[in-house]
Amino acid sequence: MDIWEKITSLAKRRGFIYPGSEIYGGLAGTWDYGPLGVELKRNIKNEFWKTMVQERSDVVGLDAAIIMSPKVWEASGHLSSFSDPLVECKKCHHRFRADQLKGDRCPDCGGEFTEPKQFNLMVETYLGVIEGEKLKTYLRGEITQGVHVNFKNVMSSTRVKLPFGVAQVGKAFRNEITPGGLTFRSREFEQMELQYYVKPDMKASLKTFEEWKKNRMEWYLSLGMKKGSLRFKEHAKDELAHYAKAAFDIEFLAGEEWKEMEGIHHRGDWDVRRHQEYSGEDMTYFDEETKEKYLPYIIETSGGVDRAALFFLMNGYIEEDVDGETRTVLKLHPKLAPYKVAVFPLLANKPKLVELAENIAGELRKDMMVAWDSRGNIGKRYRAQDEAGTPYCVTVDFDSLENGDVTVRDRDTMKQERVKIKGLQAYFAERLK
Ligand code: GAP
Repeated sequence: MDIWEKITSLAKRRGFIYPGSEIYGGLAGTWDYGPLGVELKRNIKNEFWKTMVQERSDVVGLDAAIIMSPKVWEASGHLSSFSDPLVECKKCHHRFRADQLKGDRCPDCGGEFTEPKQFNLMVETYLGVIEGEKLKTYLRGEITQGVHVNFKNVMSSTRVKLPFGVAQVGKAFRNEITPGGLTFRSREFEQMELQYYVKPDMKASLKTFEEWKKNRMEWYLSLGMKKGSLRFKEHAKDELAHYAKAAFDIEFLAGEEWKEMEGIHHRGDWDVRRHQEYSGEDMTYFDEETKEKYLPYIIETSGGVDRAALFFLMNGYIEEDVDGETRTVLKLHPKLAPYKVAVFPLLANKPKLVELAENIAGELRKDMMVAWDSRGNIGKRYRAQDEAGTPYCVTVDFDSLENGDVTVRDRDTMKQERVKIKGLQAYFAERLK
């Protein structure tokens, strides 16, 4: 099994990711996050928000509507240019993205392909109550435009001054021709983005672009991504998206292949200029210092939450030999781990142990996500938590009743130590920082 198959299996087995609408045979390109997956994703988004909004004085947040006026998508260029080249096999009629095919014959049946035609990725939807008068619009293809259409609102309702950024996290939708690779290419997914507005000065803005590249790379590293598993890849000029002046991807080494995880784009003044043109609203910024009015340049960092979650799982996945047996561990950064601590009573049929363990779990739950397991032998419970990425396990045994202490076991080192129940909160607060 390669790492993709291993993660697919673990994700389903442990409750990270399930195929969407599975009991109805599934819906291609959609996924549901289970009890552990939802925590992982939430932790990624919270960390993003903390570093990008909370800890910065020059960035504010926003949460725009998913469905916007269709004019937005005309202005942004998504209706005319947001497409991939599609080919169809003349024999089996399977469809593929022409730019991702290795040969010139169908990989499924060896048939010949049609000429490529551009296939628009926007997902259509209809609003309104009267048949025939419904408004055709779109589920947003990127979360970006919700920020740019609010550029003036943010300026007039807050005290921001250039340079400043607006961050957003939310769902985006694309009618991908070939969804696949677990959540890697989905039709519904989440993005975490920053739109950073700067003076329209190419040299200075390229410096800011470099700073954001570095900042985003460091963010992934600070959350435990291995240095050798990340790299920058520059987009060639003829590969640039319709809005971009320059673009780099942060790529992750997923098994044998480098895969895009986040894009850092220099969008020039594309979005504000186009919205000014299409809406008729003045989108310029008035510079108090120079008394000039201008359209700002935009530096964007655009990450996929689902891709980050998938790659954090791959990055943390380890199989190691312990006493002749294979131990599977998810070495997730404690900040990202779905559960921080698991609490076990040594024996489920000893009410005093269960009661004490429940009390401990109850106290810890006030501060963190706590898992509970009272089934099977302790060794199996440890293994299950290793696979779930839980950094610490607490076992309540008979000595706990006498001495007021418990065994704490570390996921990564498997070392165990006795810790006073009274000091548990402080013990974990220190280690999970
Ligand atoms: N606003 C710019 C933008 O959307 P993008 O490179 O098209 O740029 C940014 O997308 C990120 O969104 C990607 O790096 C990837 O992490 C994520 N993403 C894009 N399409 C995706 C898909 N079909 N499934 C999952 N994630 C996707």
